[in-house]
Amino acid sequence: MRTHTCNQLRPDHNGDTVTLIGWVNSARDHGGVIFIDLRDREGLTQCVFRPEQSADAARLSHSLRAEDVIRVTGTVEPRPEIDGKSTVNADLPTGGIEVAASELKILNKAEVLPFQLEKELSNEDLRLSHRYLDLRRPRLARNLRTRHLVTKAARDFLDSQGFIEVETPILSKSTPEGARDFLVPSRMQPGSFYALPQAPQQYKQLLMVAGVEKYFQVARCFRDEDLRADRQPEFTQVDIEASFTDPDQIIGLIEGCLAAMFQSARSLEIPTPFERMTWHEAMDRFGSDKPDRRFAIEITDVSNLFAESGFKVFSGAIQNGGVVKAINAKGFAGITTGQVDKLTEIAVNAGAKGLAYIQVRGDDPATWRSPITKFFNESELAGLKEALLIEEGDLILFAADQWQPACEILGRIRLECACMQGLLEGQEDVFDFLWVTEFPLLAHDEEEGRWVAVHHPFTRPVDEDRPKLEAGDYAGLRAQAYDVVLNGHELGGGSIRIHEADLQAAMFNALGISENDARAEFGHILDAFQFGAPPHGGIALGLDRIVMLIAGEQSIREVIAFPKNNKGADLMTSSPAPATPIQLRDLRIKSTVPEDKEP
Ligand code: AMO
Ligand code: AMP
Repeated sequence: MRTHTCNQLRPDHNGDTVTLIGWVNSARDHGGVIFIDLRDREGLTQCVFRPEQSADAARLSHSLRAEDVIRVTGTVEPRPEIDGKSTVNADLPTGGIEVAASELKILNKAEVLPFQLEKELSNEDLRLSHRYLDLRRPRLARNLRTRHLVTKAARDFLDSQGFIEVETPILSKSTPEGARDFLVPSRMQPGSFYALPQAPQQYKQLLMVAGVEKYFQVARCFRDEDLRADRQPEFTQVDIEASFTDPDQIIGLIEGCLAAMFQSARSLEIPTPFERMTWHEAMDRFGSDKPDRRFAIEITDVSNLFAESGFKVFSGAIQNGGVVKAINAKGFAGITTGQVDKLTEIAVNAGAKGLAYIQVRGDDPATWRSPITKFFNESELAGLKEALLIEEGDLILFAADQWQPACEILGRIRLECACMQGLLEGQEDVFDFLWVTEFPLLAHDEEEGRWVAVHHPFTRPVDEDRPKLEAGDYAGLRAQAYDVVLNGHELGGGSIRIHEADLQAAMFNALGISENDARAEFGHILDAFQFGAPPHGGIALGLDRIVMLIAGEQSIREVIAFPKNNKGADLMTSSPAPATPIQLRDLRIKSTVPEDKEP
């Protein structure tokens, strides 16, 4: 048994006999005296093997290699002075002492590792193939602990507010959250499939009908979608639902919960309440429904200057019911041609036809460098200067399009400019929380020519807009929906729900779901709403993203013990993997993969 962990020992333990157990972090031979840095989950302690103290232990210590598992018993001693110089290591909590070893037991030898633990490794696939080694690194070990603290803080806080944790099925029925489902074939009902939950949305609403009143769950969710730094195919939500509630109560609850998480995991006081902004304002000013406000660039509407302009790209957009919008990236007039090309590519990928710009090289517009200013008259130039507070050294970028695409294009461009200009450097400890409210209820899918739910089909319209929904007038309807945003990341989203069968039917109608299909897909919800469903609402927080931001990481993969890589694979266990012919036979599934590729 160990008597201490590897970060506990201090000079006042001088003379104590202690036993430490852990891994050989490093081994050094100083003229026959072996120095081992012993590592456990808490930290490092230096152990010294001197032949005069224990010949056996010293002899055995010569065979130690990195990552061997050992048990060392010895005496705590202050680190000595050598040639008048202190050997104290001020960077290490235990740097004032060392353990003079009298006994050594090798519990298990380690082969040479596929990569060194002390160096950061850019080959993520190699890390993920041996994740159990990767997790030995202090940074990753710390992230797992941070995750534990954050999860525990959420559970404790919600418990203190009267919420109870209820588990809901993993083998379940498809809930539309906007992603593709993972399906699980049923052996007992050949040809039928369970869906893994994209979220426990329907179950938590049914728990409200069941009278649970205050539910939460640390819930696994599964979405088959393209992966990014903050998206995994399986992830965790802190999922919450309450009856007899309103947006203010949910918002207050979540502010308390997030404050508890940050306090517990990083001793950070986060000021509440958070600011609130409507979706329309967020889009109009920042071009995003999850604005990063840590840098000042904002979007300005300059349509009034160009309605009659000789520059047809701008006046034409306005005449088509669109807008001309611009941002001023202060001090970025020195942008390189390569950077302009990159910004243009981003704009075009976001649907723009081009990205007009002005490099402001002096006060006089005659000195400006731009492919478009030659089309502008004096009053347009003067108007621009005033509207965008243009000064020497600025870079102006334009989008002429319908309102929403123009906002979205400049939203991406402002983020990229901030990145190119390094505006976010040194801002790692700025935590800018924001609520975005009044999301649109429905969006028109131009390709498919139909209305789709912006959030999910159970979201309630704002009271004022309800008659329009029921009358089939779908444009501009607002939802009682709210997202909590931190530094440009969507941490969570939720809404007040529809709890009446007739309103839910009107919503399905808006989504073009026939009565028959609604019955087949959602009959259980429609039925439940007829038996005394309480008014209710809720939210889900993305736990992985919260932990990522608290831990100061760039990817949620760094805070998940065993994440998938960007192809959705677990490289350590080699999943997904082909099924055996017998498994497929039992499931009555025929693989269309060519036989030579089968196992
Ligand atoms: P939503 O789909 O907005 O809402 O999800 C809630 C939060 O979950 C996180 N999240 C993800 N995290 C990692 N990887 C993913 N692939 C991923 N997808 C989502 C985000 C997001 O804000 N049922 C509703 C909630 C409700 O209405 O109560 C829902 O799931 O942080
Ligand atoms: P053109 O007249 O098409 O050569 O465009 C002149 C400049 O305007 C080029 O720099 C284009 O990239 C830019 N541009 C074209 N269409 C748009 C648009 N809809 N919004 C912003 N800039 C545009």
